[in-house]
Parts: sequence; structure tokens; C-alpha cells
Amino acid sequence: MAKKRLVSGMRTTGSLHLGHLEGTLKNWVSLQDTYDCFFFAAVWHAFTDRLKIDNLPAIIDEMVIDWLSVGIDPEKSVIFRQSSMHEHAELCTILSNCTPLGWLERCPSFKDDVRDEDAKSRVSLGKLMYPVLMTSDIAAYDGEFVPVGKDQLPHLELSREIVRRFNGSYGDVLKEPDAVLSQVPLLLGIDKRKMSKSYNNGIELRETPDGLKAKVQQMITDPQRVRRNDPGDPEVCCVYAYHKIYTPDRLEEIAQGCRTAGIGCRDCKLILYERLNNMLEPYRCRRAEIESRKGYVKEVLDAGEKRAHAIASEVLQRVRQVMGFSS
Ligand code: TRP
Ligand code: SF4
Repeated sequence: MAKKRLVSGMRTTGSLHLGHLEGTLKNWVSLQDTYDCFFFAAVWHAFTDRLKIDNLPAIIDEMVIDWLSVGIDPEKSVIFRQSSMHEHAELCTILSNCTPLGWLERCPSFKDDVRDEDAKSRVSLGKLMYPVLMTSDIAAYDGEFVPVGKDQLPHLELSREIVRRFNGSYGDVLKEPDAVLSQVPLLLGIDKRKMSKSYNNGIELRETPDGLKAKVQQMITDPQRVRRNDPGDPEVCCVYAYHKIYTPDRLEEIAQGCRTAGIGCRDCKLILYERLNNMLEPYRCRRAEIESRKGYVKEVLDAGEKRAHAIASEVLQRVRQVMGFSS
């Protein structure tokens, strides 16, 4: 049976960290066997909150290398850049006309951005249109599924409504995408705040063993546990939050050791370091291998964009036809 098509993108905001790995990439890797996957670098979306991105080509390459290193497989999945696909932009122009302004203004992420009047002079039209472009990214491939976390559900619901509106006028031309809900563990940064580039509190996929060790050493523990003999509370500790994900087999032992001061924070961190390092090591090897193959990333993207164009141009042809502007 033919696999159902799944589309997803990731904004090109810089090098990827464990949040991306746990929140998105591991999920993508496993979806590859079940779905016909289209994964793209959401380059245009990265510009919705900045006008200029330095070294963009390098940022895109690094992101794609990160994808490949964790197991996104160009033999299984179509990997490409949104910015190479004029079809997304064309469809976005069209779909913007069947998207009521009110829908976009009510979108939770947009509402967060324009809390005050003043914000309206800073926030771009591109930001407001974010969900329309997203809809186009998906619909350009007849995408049937989109992997989403709970927080992205309103965006997908909006996509469905935009498509429904278009279809309401023109018949069943575009596919209404469904969500593949993914359970993702929430990984905080090493300072217990949200893991974010701007806080510089993430553990990156390309971390060296020494770099990783330093990051783990900086992680915030139970602040009440000042001396080695003080008992601690694992539930308030950042290291323990990571152990929950990476050391499930020794969780009880660690919690118990912490509460009874049986284990010191230094050793506790060492256990985590080793787990993380073992996980990252095969990625490092694959990355080194990919980086040694000159021109490989370009080859992957060129091939992906060719496959993507083949589908998107058909979908757009269909759209142009029903609207009355095909030649
Ligand atoms: N919004 C996604 C992110 O923040 C990127 C994205 C753009 C996307 N278009 C999409 C995801 C379409 C899924 C489907 O990284
Ligand atoms: Fe955190 Fe481990 Fe120290 Fe307890 S022993 S406070 S869980 S680092």
C-alpha cells in the first residue's frame, strides 16, 4: 500500500540542540518508515522575526547535516529548502485571500507577539501570515499528515480551515491535513529556563565531549544541597529532569541517592554526561563522515528539490486550472 504523505519543516534559526532532537528529530526519524516524508528547511519562516540572517547558507547546511547525522535518510525522505520552492510562495499568495484577518489575529502565537499597540509597529505582516505560509508548505504536496506537538495544534486547525475555505469555492482541490500528535518530553535548558538560542542554555548536537562535560557541569542542581552531605530533592534539579529522559533504568537509584546524600552531584552529573555522550557519539561519527564528503549536502538538497518540484508543480497546476489562470 502506498504510504501516506507527511510534511514538516524546521526554521533555520541556528545550530540544533537537544530540544530539537527530542522534540522533533527523533520523531521525524521514526516517521520515515511509516510515511512518505517531506522535510524542509523553513527558511522564509526564519525571517518572520528578523530581517537579516548572517551566514544563512552555512546555517542551512549545518541544519541539514544535523538532520542527516541523526538519521534523516535522503533515500527515504525528501529533504529540501522552502526557499527553493516558488510553489509555496505562489500558493501562499492565493491562500492569503481565503484567510480572514480575524483568524490570524486570534492565533495564540500571534496574540503573544502583539500584546500592546506598540508591538504592531514592530511585528511584520510576515509574522501574521505565518500560518498561511505554513498551510501552503503542506498543501503544495497534498500533505495528509503533519507531526505536531500540542502547542502547534491551533496552527494546524487554522490550516485545515484555510484549505476548507479554498475547497468550498473550488471543490476538492487541496488536501486537508491531519495531525500526527507526538508526545514530546519537555527539555529545559541547563539553567532550567526554556531551552533557547537567545539564553545560550542549550546542549547542542555538535557538542564535543569536553564541551558537553562543561555544559553538564554548569547544570543547576538543588540549590539547597550546598555540601556533599546535605540531602537533596531531585524534583527541583535540572540534572534529574534529564535523567528522567536519559537514565530511566537507574532513576530510582539516583533519586534515592540524592535524597539520602548517598550520591554526590558530581557523580550524578558524570552519569548523565556519559549517557549523553554515548548518545551523541554515533551522531558525531556520522557528521564527520558527511562533512568529509564534499558537495554531499548540496547533492541531497538538489535531489530533494527536484522531487519536491515534481509534486508541487502538479498541485499548483491543479490550483491554477480551477481558478482559471492556467495557460
Ligand atoms: N513552524 C515550524 C517551526 O517553528 C516550521 C514550519 C513551517 C512547519 N512550515 C511548516 C512545520 C509546515 C510543519 C508544517 O519550526
Ligand atoms: Fe541533582 Fe543529582 Fe545533585 Fe540530586 S544528586 S541535586 S539529582 S545533581
